[in-house]
Formats: sequence, structure tokens, C-alpha cells
Amino acid sequence: MRILGIESSCDETGVALYDTTKGLLSHALFSQISIHAPYGGVIPEIASRDHVRKLIPLVQTTLQQAELNIADIDGIAYTAGPGLVGALLVGASFARSLAWSRNIPCIGVHHLEAHLLAPMLEDEKPAFPFLALLVSGGHTMLLLAKAFGKYECLGETLDDAAGEAFDKTAKLLGMPYPGGPHLSKLAEKAPETIYHFPRPMTDRPGLDFSFSGLKTFALNTWQKSAQNEQAKIDIACAFQTAVVDTLCLKIKRALKQLTEQNINIQQLVISGGVSANKALREKLALVATAQNIALFFPRLEFCTDNGAMIAYLGSEYLRRGMSDENLDIIARSRWPLANK
Ligand code: KG4
Ligand code: ZN
Repeated sequence: MRILGIESSCDETGVALYDTTKGLLSHALFSQISIHAPYGGVIPEIASRDHVRKLIPLVQTTLQQAELNIADIDGIAYTAGPGLVGALLVGASFARSLAWSRNIPCIGVHHLEAHLLAPMLEDEKPAFPFLALLVSGGHTMLLLAKAFGKYECLGETLDDAAGEAFDKTAKLLGMPYPGGPHLSKLAEKAPETIYHFPRPMTDRPGLDFSFSGLKTFALNTWQKSAQNEQAKIDIACAFQTAVVDTLCLKIKRALKQLTEQNINIQQLVISGGVSANKALREKLALVATAQNIALFFPRLEFCTDNGAMIAYLGSEYLRRGMSDENLDIIARSRWPLANK
């Protein structure tokens, strides 16, 4: 079965073809970052209009790369939410119309479930049950993935997501949007830092997160500093270390909690845009070794938004015979993952 996957939830148009026997056949992505950068963030209307322009050329590219034509597609999956409604509607309307015209099944999938299962696109795949840390621009969640489609939220952010905190802190240090990768690069220049940032919500029980205070801490530190390049590097490093330490501490806490409940977890999955962060990957590798569990990441290009994860997730639903029953075009700005 060959599935066309379409991602258009935010500022990336992603398209991919996934074959249930051969795996990923092709994928193509257009990032709108340079279009939104002058505004310092994503402008929803501009995002929607650009998805309209890029979707068909990207579908043609993926078909050409895989040496297939439209008649070779057996099903279509699109991101139905959560995300920007206008942007989602572009992908949803296109997917629905194409599926209807070809008389093939179509399914609207959950963007975060797609991130969560993105490591399944790799040769070394995790197996259920596993503990997952989903860290993206809009979400930070610790999940117990019990089985396909069965996810329990163990903890989540009460305010800013990890990626959002990276982007906001980078912005106040004068870096372009999205600042996460820039801040992370800058932090690498400092082997250690003179500053110590708090590890939010680690001094009390529980698995929730709160990252908004860190950007205020960064702002205050910047205002009291010499406000030069070295201060930026030191703040970037202190901020990143605090986020990474906090995430790792909560993962260890979650593993302990699950063991106490007699739930045996042998595998840890990290996904979403912030899972591309080098310092996080390195520290988590140490945690996994110390805890004697296997660690799984998506490859770097599939940490951030892409069509491959949508095509893969759609293929899992469609091969189980699950597809959207009517012709509704689904676009949900908010959509909890745990009770999808
Ligand atoms: O998963 P994603 O592409 O979009 C959402 O679904 O939100 O994640 C994008 C987020 C942005 O906040 C971006 O700054 C962050 O992931 N990000 C990073 C890195 N690469 C991307 N944050 C820290 N370090 C990175 N290397
Ligand atoms: Zn995403």
C-alpha cells in the first residue's frame, strides 16, 4: 500500500510517499522560515497562502523522485491538527479532494502522534510500550505510549513549550526566528557558563513543566550583564543547560514512577523539533545508559515538521482499515493527544 502524506500545520509544507512494504519512498519539504523571519514569528495568513503555492509542486516532486504517478497512490494522510487552522485547511482540502477524485481512502491524523512515532521511520524502531518525551515548538509532554493509538499523558508544560522558550529567549538575545537552533549553536561555544539558571518545578513532586520563567530569568541576566557577545554565549549556555537538565530530571522521575507502578519500561523515545538539540541528545544518551534503557530519536530532518511522519502514521491507520468515514474536511487548532 502506498500512502501520500501531507503536512501543513504551521510554517513547513511537507509531502512524502510511504510504502507499507518498502518503507519511505520519497519526501520533500519547503520551509517558510525565511518568509516569516522578518516578522519575528509565523504570520498565519502568509503561511496558508504559501502552502497553497507549494503543495502541488511538492507532490509532483515526491512522485517523480519515487518514479510513480498519481494513479499509484492507494491512500492519503494529512495533518488534521493541532496547528494553524488556515494552514491545516489547505492540506486537508487538498488531501480530501485528491482522495475523492481518485476514489481512495483518506485520513486526517494528529500532528503530535506523527512526531511521537517518527522514530518508526528509522531502521532501529522502538516497540510499545515506551516512555516518550515530545518536545516541539508548541508542546512539551511526557507520554506513556502503551500501544498504537493508546497514549497516556504523564506530564506537560503549564505555560511555554520547550521550543517556544528556546525561541523567545533567542529573540530577546537578538537572534532571528526561529531562534532555537541559533541559540543552541551559540551555547556550544561555551564549555561551561558563569551563570546558573533555575530548573523549574523540579523542587516539587510531579511530572509537569514550566518554562516561561526561564526566559524572564534570561532577560534579567542579560540586563545586568555587559551585554556583549560573551554574555550572550554564557546566557545561551546557562539557559540550554537548565532546559536539558530539567527534561532529563523529569524523565528519570517518570521512569522511577512507572517502576513503582510495576510498569516495566525498556525504551525511551524523544521526538519533536527540540529533539534535534545536540546537548539534549548527548545528555539523554547518558541518562539512558545509566538507566539501562534503549534510546530512540528520529533522524535530524524528521525531528522538525515533515511529510514523512504523516505518511507513516497514515499508513498505520489505513493498513488497519481505519479511514475517515465521511467527506468532512477536518482542521482542529486544538486537539488533545491523550484522548484523540
Ligand atoms: O516540531 P516542530 O518542527 O514544530 C512544532 O510542531 O512545534 O518544532 C519546532 C521547534 C522550534 O521552537 C525550534 O526552535 C525548535 O523546535 N528547535 C530547536 C532546535 N531545532 C529546532 N530547539 C533547540 N535546539 C535545536 N537544535
Ligand atoms: Zn511539529
